[in-house]
Amino acid sequence: MKKIVGPNIVNLIGVFWTANNLYIITEYCEGGDLREYMKKLGREMPEHQAVEVLRQIICGFKVLVDSKLIHRDLKPENILIKGSAYKIADFGFARTVESSDNTLLNSMVGTPLYMSPQILKSQPYTVKSDIWSIGLIFYEMVYAKLPYPARSQYELIQKITNSPLQFHFSISISEEAKEFIKQCLQPDERKRLDCQRLINHPILSLSSPEKPSNKVNGFASSVDNKAKLLIQKIQMII
Ligand SMILES: Nc1ncnc2c1ncn2[C@@H]1O[C@H](COP(=O)(O)OP(=O)(O)O)[C@@H](O)[C@H]1O
Ligand SMILES: [Mg+2]
Repeated sequence: MKKIVGPNIVNLIGVFWTANNLYIITEYCEGGDLREYMKKLGREMPEHQAVEVLRQIICGFKVLVDSKLIHRDLKPENILIKGSAYKIADFGFARTVESSDNTLLNSMVGTPLYMSPQILKSQPYTVKSDIWSIGLIFYEMVYAKLPYPARSQYELIQKITNSPLQFHFSISISEEAKEFIKQCLQPDERKRLDCQRLINHPILSLSSPEKPSNKVNGFASSVDNKAKLLIQKIQMII
């Protein structure tokens, strides 16, 4: 955890031991986690807001990729909120790999609903299993439900394998967002987005809509969003 530092990572402050316990001190995220936030919202998130959260998650994910780490338990409960920052937390299942894109792992860890089909079926998997989870988190933000709700691991595998990915009619999202979800939720790892294409994905440069009712505020918020986007790009480069 000491190696991974960034605005979209829950940063480590220190570690100490007593006779029976290990204490891990991290920065405090007063806004709670993304699961609690979505529960309170009680409905789908507006797309531009979901894209902003996604952009921050991917910014944090890039730090993991650069440190050759696979998280293996990305889900809304492990995305913490501090002010307006969304941060990746809970490195309990993370592990290092030699080359992030193609090292194959076998162990079964994570939370079934967010696990990639490779982990679910105990097949070898790579860092792309985290990209599956990121696609699921984004789907859940924009639709307020999961694409494959299931009560058992068997049912989940059956649904992922046999039912095509469905986009709900009642909520309309952009074609770019649908395309992004399709590319992340490819059951076949070889067809799934890779880290580089995820980090540079065009969906991340979609700007948020201006408020039509108030031109001055609309202008200010669009400038704010452009500034935020630039700051994040600079952070990513740094
Ligand atoms: N630094 C923190 N700031 C605020 N809440 C936190 C922090 N760390 C953990 N939490 C809360 O505790 C929950 C469990 O912590 P987590 O590190 O994910 O451990 P676990 O392995 O038990 O899932 C998180 O989902 C979050 O709600
Ligand atoms: Mg957790």
